[in-house]
Amino acid sequence: MQLTTRLRRNRASEGLRRMTRETRLDVADLVYPLFVHGGDHNEPVASMPGVERRNVKDLVRECREAFDLGIPAVAVFPVIDPAHKDEKGSHALSPDNLLFRALSEVKSAVPELVLIADVALDPYTDHGHDGMLTKDGRDVDNDPTVEMLGRLAVKEAEAGADIVAPSDMMDGRVGAIRAALDAAGRTDTCILAYAAKFASAYYGPFRDAVGSAQSKPISKATYQLDPANVREALREVELDEREGADMVMVKPAGPYLDVIRAVREQTKLPLVAYQVSGEYAQIHAAARAGWLDYEKCRDEALLAIKRAGADLVITYFAREMAEASKS
Ligand code: PBG
Repeated sequence: MQLTTRLRRNRASEGLRRMTRETRLDVADLVYPLFVHGGDHNEPVASMPGVERRNVKDLVRECREAFDLGIPAVAVFPVIDPAHKDEKGSHALSPDNLLFRALSEVKSAVPELVLIADVALDPYTDHGHDGMLTKDGRDVDNDPTVEMLGRLAVKEAEAGADIVAPSDMMDGRVGAIRAALDAAGRTDTCILAYAAKFASAYYGPFRDAVGSAQSKPISKATYQLDPANVREALREVELDEREGADMVMVKPAGPYLDVIRAVREQTKLPLVAYQVSGEYAQIHAAARAGWLDYEKCRDEALLAIKRAGADLVITYFAREMAEASKS
């Protein structure tokens, strides 16, 4: 056979494969999501092996260790006592909101670690939706919710959040949050918009972790994107960018690699992809059954998200990836 082009030449040894590798995952690309609760002891999350609801002290310890491993940022999610939940999510703005204490303790213990706080009402509402309901209780009420999100974002920034991340998908929230932050003198607080957030079944384990499963028969599909739509996702990104987002997100990540690629081509903003709880659970479950190689699938899933065009990946694997890169 007279072949002049043999692509296998560049693949012949590990040295050559390393030289020709196009995508790398670096510890600096990782964001580590963590759950904090008001209990005394840590509680494992059954559907997310290795993930715990931590008390504030343990959250601070975990954050310091993550920072020492080279992870630049964490996203902190509160598990709110059901006794504090109501129809409007009022506890979000209470000075007793556990999230504010957690943020301020982490910020004072590990000031250089970048702190991200979700802006949404689902941890605080008794129905588990990301906003308050309309009078007839049949939908989430956009404009009063947005007004409240602006106030929540300011309190998060005051407590120590460097980045606020609206994850609610209400219309107009990025602009309203920017205006509220600026009016409060928080001109340096970044907004990471969950711009293309899909109404996905992959959030199930997360809702177990924070106890936000929806009890009312309203679907998040009235505010989160239809999984079928990529052009609409691009409109969301465009709008959030125009309203003042500093970074944009696509979520989930693995099942939406085409959306990540399309957003990458549209925007110059830093692009964050959230490898969500269900993606994490899936890899663990298959590995437990002995059906997939845990580490190889984990690494491949994360690499694919970067290859699609994400600059940063929010992943529950962050800590172990950082540890693996050291060894
Ligand atoms: C809340 C929020 C959710 C996630 C992050 N912020 C759940 C939801 O919208 O129902 C999901 C993250 C995950 O599944 O890991 N607004």
